[in-house]
Amino acid sequence: MSVFLGIDIGTSGTKTLAIDEKGNILADAMETYPCHVPKPLWSEQDPDDWWQATITSVRKVTKKAKLKPAEVKAIGLSGQMHGSVFLDRRDKVVRRAILWNDQRTAAECREIEQRAGGRRKLIKMVANPALTGFTAPKILWLRNHEPSNFDKTCKILLPKDEIRRRMTGQYATDVSDASGMLLLDVAKRNWSKRLLSALELDIDLLAKCYESEDVTGKLTPAAAGALGLTTDCLVVGGAGDCAAGAVGNGIVNRGVLSTSIGTSGVMFVHCDQVKIDPEGRVHTFCHAVRGKWHMMGVNLSAGGSLQWFRNELCKADVAKTKLAGSEVYDLLTKEAKAVPAGSEGLFFLPYLSGERTPHADPDARGCFVGLTLAHTRGHLIRAIMEGVTYSMRDSLAIFDGLGVPVRQIRASGGGSRSPLWRQIQADIFGRKVVTINTKEGAAYGVALLAAVGAGAFKNIREACEATIRVVQETSVDRAARRYYDRAFPIYQQLYRSLKNDFKSIAALEA
Ligand code: XUL
Repeated sequence: MSVFLGIDIGTSGTKTLAIDEKGNILADAMETYPCHVPKPLWSEQDPDDWWQATITSVRKVTKKAKLKPAEVKAIGLSGQMHGSVFLDRRDKVVRRAILWNDQRTAAECREIEQRAGGRRKLIKMVANPALTGFTAPKILWLRNHEPSNFDKTCKILLPKDEIRRRMTGQYATDVSDASGMLLLDVAKRNWSKRLLSALELDIDLLAKCYESEDVTGKLTPAAAGALGLTTDCLVVGGAGDCAAGAVGNGIVNRGVLSTSIGTSGVMFVHCDQVKIDPEGRVHTFCHAVRGKWHMMGVNLSAGGSLQWFRNELCKADVAKTKLAGSEVYDLLTKEAKAVPAGSEGLFFLPYLSGERTPHADPDARGCFVGLTLAHTRGHLIRAIMEGVTYSMRDSLAIFDGLGVPVRQIRASGGGSRSPLWRQIQADIFGRKVVTINTKEGAAYGVALLAAVGAGAFKNIREACEATIRVVQETSVDRAARRYYDRAFPIYQQLYRSLKNDFKSIAALEA
């Protein structure tokens, strides 16, 4: 049997999954690790934790599926995008990696725009504006704030590419993940020498760029030993978790859009041609489909908002449900379901980590607006689900405005497992939402890319056609849709009303 592994280096943990040549899932495993927050709105992780989690989860999967080492023919890597791993000349990490949801780089974003000759010129060079989460501002932050660490740095890798280096000894990345560094000429699918020179960054700091299904190397003897695999095992380019998740949802054709509610919320649409938002509100990145692109909007605290509510305000229920062997989210969504659409005038702005799409504002804050004595915990929960979904509708409205065709919406990610949240999505988007047969997202997407790289399928479209199909549909409830259509402009106005107050709060805390 030929087996392919998909490994996703996520923010809460690493997920490994094994599939056979037909795309059937043989086993999966998840290993978690901490995220360090040394200051408010900072976010860091230790690459050693990712590597340990990779080893443990791969070993668990091969054990569960009773795989012989030689059966594992190829690995596809996916991971949280934008994170920066700084390596010295001996490949030791110089400091903890700074992650995608870290907001420390506002000044560096301004510096990048200025060095590029303005925001519009920057967007022309790399298809996107400078956002605090992206990698290039993190590199400049290191140079500005930790110059001795910057001087030691010889290579800068993305999270999954650091795991690739430990597996293969190669410095390599793929075009989809590289797009989020803000150093790639996205239209040409290679590093932007113009921007690198404007930023005074050496191209040698960066890895070699591959298409997602291309083979980037084989396991070294040390890595094969650690993982319990063989040195014949290939490692393909893989993809950033958004593109990988989209492949796992079969978003490989024009007009198909996926909504994903994980820690972050992602609206991802496939594009056959490169299309750029001149205002930079949504991102244009290379897709994991050879020679294709995608546009996406990212909301930083989607499932993360509900997770925060659960962790901070439902501690007793977490303990109770754990004891009873039930799921605390089921209890919370039951309470939310009892509340009418619109949460009786309660709004939630999900800007707990600042926001990316459409505001690109690291100072934005989360809030409930419209509370009365009549509101219960169920209202708060429903308002969170609705607020997150409004924030995703912001992206849909931008795609519509740019004339990007959307003919089918596929819901995915942990949040979309809730039938209530899927219904809220259909009603707020005003369009039918479908789900597919696999729920494994990014890890599944890169396992398919590994299968393509090893020759089990001709290309990724063929792999998706053979393995992914729509299994369920959620239709729009007309009355709820009418309510949400009236409420959405109020949701949008709330940010505009509070924007300056968010700045004052940030200044107060600075
Ligand atoms: C995408 C992004 C997030 C991370 C989360 O641009 O920042 O979705 O990739 O893992």
